Amino acid sequence: MQRLLRLVARVAPTDSTVLILGESGTGKELVARSIHVLSRRAQGPFVPVNVAALPESLIESELFGYAKGAFTGATNDRPGLVEEAHHGTLFLDEIGDMPLPTQVRLLRTLENSEVRRLGENTPRLVDVRVVAATHRDLQALVADGRLRADLYYRLNVVQIELPALRERAGDLGLLASYFLDRAAERMGRKGLRFTPDAMALLVRHDWPGNVRELENAIEHAVSVSEGAWLGPADLPASVRTPRLLTRGTVEGVPAADEIAFRGGRTRAPRDPDLRSLDEVTREHVLRVLSRHQENATAAARTLGVSRTTLWRMLKRWGVKRDARKGC
Ligand SMILES: Nc1ncnc2c1ncn2[C@@H]1O[C@H](COP(=O)(O)OP(=O)(O)OP(=O)(O)O)[C@@H](O)[C@H]1O
Ligand SMILES: [Mg+2]
Repeated sequence: MQRLLRLVARVAPTDSTVLILGESGTGKELVARSIHVLSRRAQGPFVPVNVAALPESLIESELFGYAKGAFTGATNDRPGLVEEAHHGTLFLDEIGDMPLPTQVRLLRTLENSEVRRLGENTPRLVDVRVVAATHRDLQALVADGRLRADLYYRLNVVQIELPALRERAGDLGLLASYFLDRAAERMGRKGLRFTPDAMALLVRHDWPGNVRELENAIEHAVSVSEGAWLGPADLPASVRTPRLLTRGTVEGVPAADEIAFRGGRTRAPRDPDLRSLDEVTREHVLRVLSRHQENATAAARTLGVSRTTLWRMLKRWGVKRDARKGC
């Protein structure tokens, strides 16, 4: 994180376009805001635009503005977000989701430092610094023809890649303590501490939601806990139990590979047709358990086996018995 902060501090005053890459929740927006605050534009506006949240029919009028009468409903002249960012920073979040025609307009705006409102012929000069972010693989989007290569090169002047939280083992404890102190202070519970068991669970979890997930998990723990210690039982169920599905479903990595995960990192995708029956069984059993919030009695009922059989399977797979309710 310190290396990252040094990079941010170096890049911020340069006025270069910055492209921030990273999984969801890794802190892309936080970095974008830091760049703005540390730049010579700090007194100017910071204008965040979530490209993915804007409907395709509105995105151009939102970004570039319009003249009265440009389309039905355009009853006034209106500046767009690019103009609003004049003398400041325009943060284009989820840039990988921008429609192709908008990309053309954006590129023209960036190259000429001018913006033309819809329905107007004369461009207006704008002075904006662009910071863009995405969780997508932009080179793959370029290869698929969904992102213009010229725009990609225009944005990719300085690249900041935010590592996933599971790749920042050294930061986890620091961030966890920081979020704990902050939440405890806010809730009038100063001095709260993690038990070693709870800390071990935090370290073992693979944090698919990254820093945001950690922040929320700790806030949850602080609000449900009693006394001076945060124990394993205070953590959300997703953190208490081995991760099964999320990355598999989100990233297209077969979930069976995730099952083997024990505090390590994601493995390379495996061909699902090459799994053994035991792997498939294990995946299914753990998924059913997860569906039943780790309640073994309910899971055994769904699986049509006795609790003893279920318990034996979990033991064989090295799934800790005491970590699982009712087992
Ligand atoms: N280094 C950090 N220190 C403190 N808080 C952090 C840090 N990194 C991220 N956060 C917090 O984590 C949360 C998620 O960060 P942010 O919104 O910047 O992520 P993101 O990469 O933009 O996520 P998404 O792709 O889902 O939009 C925010 O509440 C942010 O304040
Ligand atoms: Mg974001």
